[in-house]
Amino acid sequence: MGALTDFAAVGTSYAEHSRTARGRLRHDLVELRLRAELPARPVRVLDVGCGDGETTLRLAAAGHHVTAADPSAGMLDAATRRLAARPELAQRVRLLEAGVHDLPFDRERFDAVCCHGVLMYLDDTSGAVARLAGLVAPGGLLSVLTKNRAAIGFREALRGEYAAARRLIEHGTDTDTSVGNLGLDTRGDTAEELDRLASEHGLTPLPWQGVRILHDHHHDDGWTPDPDTYARALETEWAASTRDPYRHLGRLVHTLARREPGAAR
Ligand SMILES: C[S@@+](CC[C@H](N)C(=O)[O-])C[C@H]1O[C@@H](n2cnc3c(N)ncnc32)[C@H](O)[C@@H]1O
Repeated sequence: MGALTDFAAVGTSYAEHSRTARGRLRHDLVELRLRAELPARPVRVLDVGCGDGETTLRLAAAGHHVTAADPSAGMLDAATRRLAARPELAQRVRLLEAGVHDLPFDRERFDAVCCHGVLMYLDDTSGAVARLAGLVAPGGLLSVLTKNRAAIGFREALRGEYAAARRLIEHGTDTDTSVGNLGLDTRGDTAEELDRLASEHGLTPLPWQGVRILHDHHHDDGWTPDPDTYARALETEWAASTRDPYRHLGRLVHTLARREPGAAR
C-alpha cells in the first residue's frame, strides 16, 4: 500500500461521509472522550492530519487553542473555508501545511496531540507514533483513532458481502488491508500494539475504546435516524465502546495515552 499523497481527490466524499449519521457517530464519540480527558481550561492541541477540520473546529469551539496540520493543500483549503464560517474561532486556530513527518516543531510541545483517521493511510505506524508521542508535553495526552485490525471483515460480514468477509476473516490479519469508507485500501492496527508503542515512548496508556461497533455496517445513505433515535444510538455505542467483548468489534479503535506530569521527555 503506497502512502496517500493527494487526499483532496477524495476530500469531498470524506466531507459528505462526515455529515451522515454514520460519519457523525465517530466524531461525536471521539469528542465525548476528548472532552472527558482534556481540562476545562483552554489548552494547546495539535491536530495532525486535520483534514477539513472537524476535530479542530470542535476542540476550538470548546475553548482550546488548536494547531491543525495536513499535507494536503486541498484539505487545508476546505478547513480554511469552514473556519471562515466560524469567525469566533479564528483566533484559536492555526493551520499548517505539513504531514506527520515534516511537522515544523523543534521545541514546541502540546497538551494534546490528536491524530484521527490518518494512520490507516500510512505505511508505518511505529514511526508516526514516535513522532506524535515526542510532541506531547508533560501531563499531556496522545489521542489516536485508526482502523481496528482485530475486527477486519466484520463490516463486510454484516453487510452480507460474504466472499470479502471470509477472505478478510481468514487472511485479513496477514494482508492487513481492506477497503475503507472512501474506496481506498486502508491498513489496520490493534489497540494493544498502539498502546505498546505509546508506552515505548514514555506515555501511560489509558483505557481504549472501540468506535462504531453497532452501526458500522450501515451504508452512509442507509441510516437516517431522527434526532431522538440518533441520541439513543450514540448512548448505546458509548456504552459498548468501553466494554468487552463489544469494543473489540469496533471498526475503529481510539487509543489514548498520557505523559506523566513533570516527566522528562
Ligand atoms: C480521513 S482524513 C481524516 C481527517 C481528520 N483527522 C478527521 O478525523 O476528520 C485523513 C487525512 O490524513 C491526511 N494525511 C495523509 N497523509 C498524511 C501524513 N503523512 N501526515 C498527516 N496527515 C496525512 C490526509 O490529507 C487527510 O486529510
